[in-house]
Amino acid sequence: MSVEIIWHGHSAYEIVHDGTLLLIDPFLTGNPAAKVSADDLTPDVILISHGHEDHVGDTISIAKRTGCLVISNFEISQWFGNQGLENVHPMHIGGQNHFEFGTLKLTIAHHGSSLPDGTYGGNPAGLFLTLGTVTLYHAGDTGLFYDMTLIGEAGIDFAILPIGDNFTMGPEDSIRAIQFLKPKQVSPCHYNTWPLIEQDAQAWAEMVKSKTDAEPVVMEVGQSMTIDS
Ligand code: NI
Ligand code: MN
Repeated sequence: MSVEIIWHGHSAYEIVHDGTLLLIDPFLTGNPAAKVSADDLTPDVILISHGHEDHVGDTISIAKRTGCLVISNFEISQWFGNQGLENVHPMHIGGQNHFEFGTLKLTIAHHGSSLPDGTYGGNPAGLFLTLGTVTLYHAGDTGLFYDMTLIGEAGIDFAILPIGDNFTMGPEDSIRAIQFLKPKQVSPCHYNTWPLIEQDAQAWAEMVKSKTDAEPVVMEVGQSMTIDS
């Protein structure tokens, strides 16, 4: 069964599989790249990679309105609980859980993770999703790390990697990441939201084609596409 994915700019994605709508890092309010309002999204599940404001985004307002399940690491889940969210599921790095929508495993990511009010957010994570037969890896915010080789051993249909540089890996390190991860398809995120992380995605795609075996997929904000395993 295929999976539909929509990019909302920065690291925010909507993923639809078998009637379930997952939302990853829903930073919409204040996101100059976003074309939808948080009020227009009605997810069943929100997944959060780390505590930074440009990832936690509109989680609290969306979850309070919809009652959706919110999954993140232990520290961020506790913080959400303190903000009045009742339907939270804590996990942590290396841990996997089988949910009704599919399987989620949290991977390492090298970055920070303080919450918007300064609360300690634990360690940042990447998200490894198995939805039916489709595998999807959202790296979160991270620099390049060699253990991406291990993550890739699971077999990745679709990888989402930050390429903005400055706060995360940039285009050149992302090429090493793709060589380690060996995904079938790879799509860039966390770029062009602000001038500081401006990148040329077409130049990146050419580099992916010439230096890796993966197919680069440069999405437009708001674009929807189908991932097949
Ligand atoms: Ni961050
Ligand atoms: Mn970020």
